[in-house]
Amino acid sequence: MRTVKVPLGDRSYPILIGSDALSRLATECTRRHLASRCAVISDRTVAALYGATVQRALQKAGFDSILISVPAGETSKRLNSVQFCYDRLAAHRLERGSFIVALGGGVVGDLAGFAAATYLRGIAFVQIPTTLLAQVDSSVGGKVGVNLKTGKNLVGAFYQPRFVLCDLATLDSLPPREFRAGLAEVIKYGIIYDAALFRRLERDQDKILRRDRATLSAIVARCCAIKAEVVGQDETESGLRAILNFGHTIGHAIEAISGYGRFLHGEAISIGQVAAARISARWLGLPEREAGRIRALFDRAGLPTTIALSAAQRQRLFSAMKLDKKVRGGEIKFVLVKGMGEASFGHQVPVQLIERVLDGAPIIHHES
Ligand SMILES: NC(=O)c1ccc[n+]([C@@H]2O[C@H](COP(=O)([O-])OP(=O)(O)OC[C@H]3O[C@@H](n4cnc5c(N)ncnc54)[C@H](O)[C@@H]3O)[C@@H](O)[C@H]2O)c1
Ligand SMILES: [Zn+2]
Repeated sequence: MRTVKVPLGDRSYPILIGSDALSRLATECTRRHLASRCAVISDRTVAALYGATVQRALQKAGFDSILISVPAGETSKRLNSVQFCYDRLAAHRLERGSFIVALGGGVVGDLAGFAAATYLRGIAFVQIPTTLLAQVDSSVGGKVGVNLKTGKNLVGAFYQPRFVLCDLATLDSLPPREFRAGLAEVIKYGIIYDAALFRRLERDQDKILRRDRATLSAIVARCCAIKAEVVGQDETESGLRAILNFGHTIGHAIEAISGYGRFLHGEAISIGQVAAARISARWLGLPEREAGRIRALFDRAGLPTTIALSAAQRQRLFSAMKLDKKVRGGEIKFVLVKGMGEASFGHQVPVQLIERVLDGAPIIHHES
C-alpha cells in the first residue's frame, strides 16, 4: 500500500493507494473516531458492483450505514440530487459526528462531498474513487460541487475529505473508454510537472492499458503526489493551481459546444492539450519534437487529438472559451509549457494563433 499525504495544515489527509485499499475502510474510520452512523453515497452502476462490499465492511466494524444511490452520469450532479441525499441523511438521523463515504467516480465524489460540506454545516467525508479520473484528479484537492443549468460546477465549496482510498482493483470493471479518458489527466501531470513521469508513460503504455496493478499503483501515486503538491501550495486557485488546467480552456469549450455528450471530459482535454502544446511551440518555444511526443502519446492511448470545425462551430468555440468560468475580464489566458514538465500560466495568446493551431497548420516559430 502506498500513502500520499495532502499537506493542508490541520486539514491534511492521506491518500492510500493499493490493490486492496477497500479492506482498510473500516480500520481507517475507526482510527478517526467517526460516529457509528454513516451513509455511503454512490451511483447505481458502482453501487451494484461495490456497494455491498463496502456496506458489509462498515457493518462488520460496527458502523450503522445506509446506501444512497443516484443514477449514473453527469445529470446526477445537480441540486435535486443533493436534496435527495439530504432527505435520506436526515431520515437515517446522521449527526454532527457522522460521516459520508463517496463511492464512485468524480460525479459521486463532487455530489457526496458537497452534501457532506453542507449537511449540518459540514460532516466528515471519505472518498473511495472508482474511476481513473477520480483517483488521480477529482478526489484530490477538495473541490466539491454541482452543476446548474447555466454551467458546470457553478455551486460548490472547498471541502477536504478525512482520507481517500484508491483501490486499483475497482478499475478492472471500468469501461475502456472511461479508462482512456482518465489517462488524459495522467498524461497531463507528466506534461505540466514531471518529464520523468511522461517518459515512464511512454515506456509503460502497454502495461498501463493492460491495467497492470503494480504499474498503475506507481503512476496513480505519482499523479496524486503532484496534485497534492500543487494544491498544498495553492488550495483555492489564486495562482499555481491554474497549471492543472492545461488543455482545459479549449477542452471545456469543446465539451460545451458539443453539448456535453459527444466527448468525455478526458477526450476533450486530450484535443485541448495537443492544441495547447502546439500553441506552446509557437508562443513559448517548446521544441517541436516535444509537441510531437505529446501528440503521439495521446494517440497511442487511443484518445482523440484533433477536431474538425466548421466556421460556425469555430465561432461558437471561441465564444465558449470566453464564457469559461476561469476567464477574467474577457481575456482568454492559457497554461503553456516551455519544456516537458515546465508549465506556466496566464499567457495571453492571439486569437489568430489559436485558430491556426486548431486548423492544424504546420508549426512555425516566428510570428509573421
Ligand atoms: N472536484 C474536482 O476537482 C474535479 C476534478 C476533475 C473532474 N471533476 C468532475 O468529475 C466528474 C467526472 O468524473 P468521472 O469521469 O469519474 O465520471 P463519472 O463519475 O460519471 O464516472 C464515469 C462512469 O463510470 C462508471 N463507473 C465508475 N466507476 C466504475 C467502476 N469502477 N467500474 C465500472 N463503472 C464505473 C460510472 O457509473 C459512470 O457511468 C465531472 O463531473 C467533473 O466535473 C471534479
Ligand atoms: Zn480535467
